[in-house]
Amino acid sequence: MTILKTEEEYASLRASGKLVAELLALAGEMTRVGVSTAYLDRKMEEYIRDHGAEPAFKGYRGYPATICASCNEVIVHGIPSEKAVLREGDILGVDVGVKLNGFFADAARTFPVGDVAESALRLMDATRKGLEAGIEQAIAGNRVSDISVAVQNVAKSAGFREVRAFVGHGTGKNLHESPEVPNWGVKGKGRVLEEGLVLAIEPMFNEGTREVEIMPDDWTAVTADRKRSAHFENTIIVGKEKAEVVT
Ligand code: MF3
Ligand code: CO
Repeated sequence: MTILKTEEEYASLRASGKLVAELLALAGEMTRVGVSTAYLDRKMEEYIRDHGAEPAFKGYRGYPATICASCNEVIVHGIPSEKAVLREGDILGVDVGVKLNGFFADAARTFPVGDVAESALRLMDATRKGLEAGIEQAIAGNRVSDISVAVQNVAKSAGFREVRAFVGHGTGKNLHESPEVPNWGVKGKGRVLEEGLVLAIEPMFNEGTREVEIMPDDWTAVTADRKRSAHFENTIIVGKEKAEVVT
């Protein structure tokens, strides 16, 4: 668990988060028909190293790339590839983490490629709202599951399935720390949140079944029915009255 105390620690995490936010803005601009996910990966890695930071995912448990690029039915952990060329109508999840001055930040967005189906836009919109609802609960004195329930409720009322096989997590001094932050649960469970705790909240919503399959590369997680999935993630600091989003 990382619980920030000093102004210096807050400043370091904010710097790391700002870099991730810039990377995702850049990824959004570069997400176009005809671009390969390997190209996006190269550009992201360049930008990270040019800013004196390191990619957080590359080499993590053997993960081979800087970003996760998860298209359509891919929920998370899609490995960038020269062969994965974006097509009109795709939705692309880009997930990136960096380490800067000893602090990790981790975030993801899902982008439309050209014109996408109305149903895909609704899925993306609901997932972003799920993230926002979760963040609203990340205040001192609440419990972890207050975040979880808020996310789950958004999925339910929008008619989508929240993925349960993957969770959000503590972050800060390490990419993945306790506590786990599930995207579903029962109110008032799990540890009490304290001011300064750093969390990565990351809902994944599916159009169809919540069931997951892992591809033979041992990373790529797809929906069992191959319907679309969307993913949004931010790194936040638990606050007294309001969380601070650093990414
Ligand atoms: N944001 C994702 C997570 O927290 C990305 C991890 S990819 C990995 O799980 F390669 F680092 F595992
Ligand atoms: Co994460």
